Amino acid sequence: MKLLLEPLHRRSEKKWANRVADAQTTDDLWKLFERRVPPIVGEYFRGAADSEITLKGNVRAFQQAMTTARGAIKVDSLDLRTTVVRHELQVPWFASPVGSLRSVWPKAEAIAAQVSGEWGTVSALSTLTGTPMEEVAASSAGKCWFQLYLCGGRDVATRGIQRAKLAGFSGLILTIDTAVAGNRAVHARMRPTAALQSFKGLPLGQRLGLLREKLRLLPQMLTHLSWLVSYWADGGIMQFVNIQMDDKGTPMPYTDIGTQLAASAVTWDDLGWIKETWGDGPLIVKGVHNADDAQRAEDSGASAVIWSNHGGRQEDRVPPTLHIVAEEMPKMARSKMDFMMDGGIRNGKDVLIALSYGVKAVGIGRAYVAGLGGGGYAGMKRSFDILREELERSMRLVGIRSVDEIRENGAAIRRQNQLIGNSSLPDFVF
Ligand SMILES: Cc1cc2nc3c(=O)[nH]c(=O)nc-3n(C[C@H](O)[C@H](O)[C@H](O)COP(=O)(O)O)c2cc1C
Repeated sequence: MKLLLEPLHRRSEKKWANRVADAQTTDDLWKLFERRVPPIVGEYFRGAADSEITLKGNVRAFQQAMTTARGAIKVDSLDLRTTVVRHELQVPWFASPVGSLRSVWPKAEAIAAQVSGEWGTVSALSTLTGTPMEEVAASSAGKCWFQLYLCGGRDVATRGIQRAKLAGFSGLILTIDTAVAGNRAVHARMRPTAALQSFKGLPLGQRLGLLREKLRLLPQMLTHLSWLVSYWADGGIMQFVNIQMDDKGTPMPYTDIGTQLAASAVTWDDLGWIKETWGDGPLIVKGVHNADDAQRAEDSGASAVIWSNHGGRQEDRVPPTLHIVAEEMPKMARSKMDFMMDGGIRNGKDVLIALSYGVKAVGIGRAYVAGLGGGGYAGMKRSFDILREELERSMRLVGIRSVDEIRENGAAIRRQNQLIGNSSLPDFVF
């Protein structure tokens, strides 16, 4: 079956590569993502917690932010390099960790690492992923970070950390904002667990019920055949191969992610053994909302913090990350850590605005997933192309040459937005 589907996947890859080539913005890529990926899968990537106020707020905060522009300046060459945790990045962004990526495109985690490596930047691999971490690291010409959840408990996590070290991952991200799973109601209503559930061991009555649930998905599968072919060419339902449940390397089966997250809550007390197991490499704490937690991370030995509200997927009605950065960064002026942020970045000007608050790099989340789901390698490359073109254009128009200059002159670059209301803002796409 796999052999039969592989050539069809290759053909469809070419078709979607042509389509992503025409995308002018990451919104265009997201629309292609929605065309190719069926709703029951796509909603996992689009959705956020509760009323999705923070998801939209993340994007709106950037749309409302304004900068100055300087006239009669010709900027000949631009320097997009930045350094975080002693890693020199050729562009001031990295690929944020995103779980279950392999369900949008075959071996998507390896592709994300490949594209990031080609761009001279880092790709962060989530614990909850389907491509073996060794293959992911080997796909990148650059560096990769491993993002840790404590799924399966301390022994399982210890095995994961040691494996990541051996595979050559050069940074460990510890995500601290998942004490319980966020309530992603829109996706829950679609009953995704029924789609994944096996008939094995069920009595006849329940089998029939499950069959009805699965047949309900038929219309959306038939209208997304490109995705379906590629999904089965890649082996179908993925397993969490980066969580080994025992010494024999038994992977965690693909189960409800919410339950996994709730069972893997981390506390500050865990940082000690995690850091000890990881060794001298940089420990990066992700999901920080306030200076108190950032300070606690530094006191616990972290080298860096990622200001993040998990793309609005955990606690709704927390501030947009850009507002968190604006309020909390000044309080950390004496810190020796490096600061990054993610949440709501949809174009290159967003990158410039985030950097203007002093962070050294930003994480890209759904904006690269849009490319991966819309066209695999070509799509993700296109999303990075778009970000770079937009960032470079903005830097030239603002009259600034380097990431360091943006960070040093932030207050002079930013302008107050005096427009009243949201009527000037474009529709929210993702
Ligand atoms: C579908 C999806 C899955 C995610 N999975 C993880 C994860 O496994 N670990 C993690 O630390 N963050 C995860 N995140 C959060 C991202 O790392 C990042 O914080 C967020 O996507 C940034 O917001 P943006 O997508 O609006 O740019 C996930 C985000 C999405 C959209």
